[in-house]
Amino acid sequence: MTRFDLAALTWDEKPMRINIAKSVAEGVKRLIPLKIDFKILDFGCGTGLVSFFLAEDVGQIVGVDSSQGMVDVFNKKAQENNINAKAYMLDILNEDFEEGDFDLIVSSMTFHHIKEPVEMLKRLKNHLKNNGYIAIADLVKEDGTFHDNNEGVEHFGFEIEEMINYLKEAGFTDIKSEIVYKVKKERNGEEREYPIFLIVGRNT
Ligand SMILES: C[S@@+](CC[C@H](N)C(=O)[O-])C[C@H]1O[C@@H](n2cnc3c(N)ncnc32)[C@H](O)[C@@H]1O
Repeated sequence: MTRFDLAALTWDEKPMRINIAKSVAEGVKRLIPLKIDFKILDFGCGTGLVSFFLAEDVGQIVGVDSSQGMVDVFNKKAQENNINAKAYMLDILNEDFEEGDFDLIVSSMTFHHIKEPVEMLKRLKNHLKNNGYIAIADLVKEDGTFHDNNEGVEHFGFEIEEMINYLKEAGFTDIKSEIVYKVKKERNGEEREYPIFLIVGRNT
């Protein structure tokens, strides 16, 4: 069982995670004109926190995640709440993923686990329709104190300009960014703030 398989069992119990997901979903609704027939992909979907907040505004949700535990929780919640969503355990960089023609790809708090962000963005772009949207949310560059354990963390967040440049390098246009949430955590007796960005782009 991996760290994320174990975490999946209690993932939704942390209010911080719900608050981040809700703010990211609200940001997506502000920056992207969602349509009820949209087919969306949630990359690093976890238990579906972000995409399920979008469920009423889109037609179909597909999730992918490298943790079977996360995928199982996602699919159980989708079934219990009658949401048109299905998740698959998959490593998109190394395994074939047949589904394409997505109108929107959303990914929240996952890119800091991805060693080569540009490679991943290019790969994801192949699964988007022409004029489809991408929406990436993650930590603004931090000093390595956000996670209690940095195992599997490839980046201590990203500078906003850095992620915008990654999107441009991968071929996205019409890029917009916002800070959508600030996580507050106590570190060494001090209250610290960790902002979360949302950056959206288009496959024109
Ligand atoms: C911090 S969690 C975020 C989960 C969810 N997006 C949320 O906001 O609650 C990061 C997720 O990315 C997944 N992940 C990490 N590396 C991945 C990869 N290479 N491919 C797919 N999923 C990955 C993990 O299994 C985990 O579920």
